[in-house]
Amino acid sequence: MTGVVPAVRVVDAEVRVGGRVIWSHVDLAIEPGRFVAVLGPNGVGKSTLIKAVLGVLPLAAGRVEVFGRPAGEGGRDIGYLPQRRSFDPSLRVRGIDVVRMGSDGDRWGLSLPWGPRRRRREARVAEVVDLVGAGDYADRPIGEVSGGEQQRLLIAQALVRRPRLLLLDEPLDSLDLPNQASVAGLIADISQEFGITVLIVAHDVNPIASALDGVVYVARGGAVSGPPDEVITSETLSALYGTPIEVLRTRDGRLVVVGQPDAAHHHGGAHGQGAR
Ligand SMILES: Nc1ncnc2c1ncn2[C@@H]1O[C@H](COP(=O)(O)OP(=O)(O)OP(=O)(O)O)[C@@H](O)[C@H]1O
Ligand SMILES: [Mg+2]
Repeated sequence: MTGVVPAVRVVDAEVRVGGRVIWSHVDLAIEPGRFVAVLGPNGVGKSTLIKAVLGVLPLAAGRVEVFGRPAGEGGRDIGYLPQRRSFDPSLRVRGIDVVRMGSDGDRWGLSLPWGPRRRRREARVAEVVDLVGAGDYADRPIGEVSGGEQQRLLIAQALVRRPRLLLLDEPLDSLDLPNQASVAGLIADISQEFGITVLIVAHDVNPIASALDGVVYVARGGAVSGPPDEVITSETLSALYGTPIEVLRTRDGRLVVVGQPDAAHHHGGAHGQGAR
């Protein structure tokens, strides 16, 4: 990739939270336009990695660059979907208002652009609502639409400013299988059509497997990255975890990782599926 400025470059990076090293010696380079999954058990630091790329977490060592600039300076270039979003069923804010919050300086409708700027913004909001197929329910209160519909609206929000990099922290979480597949397909299509680089945290690689160009596997205070076929193997994961891991492929092509230890083994904390 000589001459190509990576969308994301991580060089010998380390993050500590409350004095504890979450991960260290992490190196990555993601070329523009790639669709890359961040995988690994609960509590290993996947969200931490996303936040480091976003530039909201100080590094204890090393550096993180986004399109050649220090993380945190590329604000406009990044669309971010944080983990664990849920809307109270009684929330009256409409879906389209949530999408609009993704535009510049718009915080809960407090800024009031007018004239051409407002018209441009509204056109863009309508465009992304359309892009994610949310036209039918964007005018309904966000608390009333389904989880998959909320997810599409939040993806639209992340896209409003035409980011070149999408950081999606478990966008498929809490969706049923058909919705996981369709939201994953939507993200992959958008990435393809607009050449947007996607870094997506996932618990299950299968719904996104067909779109993947690369994988970052976080475990035991470090990370390995590379093409899915090279990283998601018994050999690589066993070495990463320091314990025998078996990667199986079912007859219908699904990947199953057997023997993956919980991050709780390393941190002494409970990180159950529902307890994050
Ligand atoms: N603000 C904080 N203060 C103290 N510890 C934190 C804080 N944020 C995260 N941690 C710890 O840092 C570690 C990594 O957290 P992170 O959220 O990055 O994990 P994760 O891989 O995203 O997990 P999950 O799959 O459950 O989302 C965890 O052990 C977590 O408890
Ligand atoms: Mg997380």
